[in-house]
Amino acid sequence: MPLVTMKELLDAASKGNYAVGAFNIGNLEHIIGAIEAAKDMNTPIILQLAEGRLKYFPMHMVAPMMIEAAKKSKVDIAVHLDHGRSRDIIKEAIKYKFTSIMFDGSNLPYEENVQKTKEYATVAKFFDISIEAELGVVGGNEGTTVNGEIRCTDPQEALDFYERTGIDALAVAIGNAHGNYITQPKLNFEVLEQIHKLVDIPLVLHGGTGISDEDFRKVINLGIRKINIATALLDGLTNKAKEYCLSDTNHRFFGLRDKMIEGTYEQVKHHIKVFNNKEPL
Ligand code: 13P
Repeated sequence: MPLVTMKELLDAASKGNYAVGAFNIGNLEHIIGAIEAAKDMNTPIILQLAEGRLKYFPMHMVAPMMIEAAKKSKVDIAVHLDHGRSRDIIKEAIKYKFTSIMFDGSNLPYEENVQKTKEYATVAKFFDISIEAELGVVGGNEGTTVNGEIRCTDPQEALDFYERTGIDALAVAIGNAHGNYITQPKLNFEVLEQIHKLVDIPLVLHGGTGISDEDFRKVINLGIRKINIATALLDGLTNKAKEYCLSDTNHRFFGLRDKMIEGTYEQVKHHIKVFNNKEPL
């Protein structure tokens, strides 16, 4: 059964020095396009659903589709809750058999983030699923243009956090942000290198949209094992749909549906190729 935990995928990525793409899902066409690309690339992926987007993509509708699609896929897939903040939503994700959760306490005072993350790590271990947490401030919002605070993760704090919480993966802030960047982001590779030297677990990069392929490769070589992509999938699907609607054709729902899948497929395939860290760019 190819529904696996995130930890299994990230441990294999650490051994092979590559990163696993974690793709945020909004609808059925995203799921189909992402899984098709993963199958064609023969590469495991993570499908994830963000708590902040549940008003658009309700968990009780989307989660069962993600789980069933993962179970029937030909490649290994982990199903993950992205930016879980509330207890009820985390409980619901576990109820729907997500194989991984993120508890995002990055907006809390440090000690509170440690305590809450530790509690959720215990819960995750009990249910035999994986847990990601975040330290520092990754700015922005998926699907928008970046505008907000970014605060780099402190490497010593990252070590203390990891030792005290027992998490499986740590999301770091190194100048990355969610959404479309106004100018090319400048990632702090020195900070990442220090964290990687000190903290012996897979590291996660949020805010993947807009980061260059060269920078992706650099961060992978410095310990990033999971890279989150949301806005690129929203834009990829929307742009193909727009192109189709503006085209001089007899518009049909099924034609539109195929284009939405194609827009997702292309984005996922491109990112997998870069994250696999094998072929030259
Ligand atoms: P982007 O929207 O910038 O790709 O960020 C995705 C993300 O980090 C989801 O948690």
